[in-house]
Amino acid sequence: MQIPVNIVILAAGLGTRMKSKQAKVLHRAGGLSLAEHVVRAALTLAPADRIFAVVGHQADQVRAELAGTGIGFITQTEQKGTGHAVRSCRDQLASRGGLLVVLYGDCPLLSAGTLRRLVELQATFPHAATVITTLLDNPFGYGRVVKDSNGSIAAIVEEKAATAEQRAIREINSGIYCFEAGLLWKHLDEIGTENPAGEYYLTDIVEIFRRHGRSCGTLLLDDPREVLGINTRVDLAEVDRVFRERKTRDLMLAGVSIENPESVTIETDVSIGADTVVEPFARLLGKTTIGGDCRIGACSILIDSTLGDRVTVGPYTLIRTQIGPYARLRMENHVEAGAKVGNFVELKKTRLGAGSQAMHLSYLGDSTIGSGVNVGAGTITCNYDGIKKHPTRIGDGAFVGSHSTLVAPIEIGAGSYVAAGSVITRPVPPDSLAVARERQTVKEDWARLRREKTRPKEVLPAAKAPE
Ligand code: UD1
Ligand code: CA
Repeated sequence: MQIPVNIVILAAGLGTRMKSKQAKVLHRAGGLSLAEHVVRAALTLAPADRIFAVVGHQADQVRAELAGTGIGFITQTEQKGTGHAVRSCRDQLASRGGLLVVLYGDCPLLSAGTLRRLVELQATFPHAATVITTLLDNPFGYGRVVKDSNGSIAAIVEEKAATAEQRAIREINSGIYCFEAGLLWKHLDEIGTENPAGEYYLTDIVEIFRRHGRSCGTLLLDDPREVLGINTRVDLAEVDRVFRERKTRDLMLAGVSIENPESVTIETDVSIGADTVVEPFARLLGKTTIGGDCRIGACSILIDSTLGDRVTVGPYTLIRTQIGPYARLRMENHVEAGAKVGNFVELKKTRLGAGSQAMHLSYLGDSTIGSGVNVGAGTITCNYDGIKKHPTRIGDGAFVGSHSTLVAPIEIGAGSYVAAGSVITRPVPPDSLAVARERQTVKEDWARLRREKTRPKEVLPAAKAPE
């Protein structure tokens, strides 16, 4: 039978060293809050009803940020240290038994694989707890892992409380532990505040277990980046860099070409199809989804946007909506929120206002299009007279009928209509209708008469001669 695992995420601290009004765990890296990264890692190990976040500073905002994940919350009203934070979970968790994993909300790079290894180790050996550690060239600020002569962990000593000799130790505490839950609850209250910070240090539990004759194990990670804890905005930028590097690497291994990958920003939840090329300095943010065989131009920004297959996005394009498939956005376009660009539509130096649509087979060049405009199928801006390029302006709420030809420079007023199939060469005032095509004539019976005129003479069967 598998041992049940419960998880506590400590996220109540303000994070003084961030020098921010905002609680530390709400700061973002790789496109998600630090807290959400940690919850996602936790969810790989246990269902949401076995995961609890300890909240305190800006508790409401942290709850709101994580509400969608379905985890539980425990409030730590006063932040008296990591040991105190775990203590505040006693009522909800002490009866649950099994294993208890403790994660810190400011340590977002932890992988699912490492968490699994931690739990497997703790389940295999008769330790009271297993601690994830790693070796750092500059261990400043972290708790140091003090080993005894047998090489087993004797204590974790915080920076402030460490002797000069202990400060030289390179093995550090990651702040990620797996406890035998019963033992933790039994001895947790023995943690005191006799340290320079006057806090309840969870890390003191290692020495306490030892006094009771119980050992702790360590899981030493080769890659220290996984347990980078964020204390300052310098750490935040470093962690963000690691997230971006992981993301671009995963995408490249899945068949996406990324030019100058260190220059692009692709957030965690972005997906991209194979054989798409992402040019330098692109920023692909939020829940953006990009199909296959696309090209995303240099310095373009896509926010919560959906691109079909085979869409070309030129450089310096800003998109907040749905594009394609088979669309081509050349240079310097702005496609605003809720605007849609459909199949076989080409945009060049064009602004398509909020909620406007050009869904089929159009060329819009050097155009400024307001909001709520419908650009009918096959509409063409004739922006080039063979010598110079000219602008087209279409006001808010205008309706351009299908297969219209707009000869620039031209202005279509707000709220006006252009009849389908028109060739527009003069300005259309607001709220008017422009029809620029031959009026339809209907010649009744024309087709029938034509058929009759051209029908070959009927050959009647020859009369039979009397016998
Ligand atoms: C802690 C560890 C240290 C380890 C480091 C790894 C302790 C005493 N020290 O130090 O050994 O090397 O993490 O990053 O545990 N929190 C609460 N309530 C509190 C205090 C803190 O929820 O009362 C939360 C914070 O929001 C944060 C986490 O616990 O997410 C860690 O707290 P922090 O103050 O950053 O601990 P460090 O000094 O970094
Ligand atoms: Ca920390």
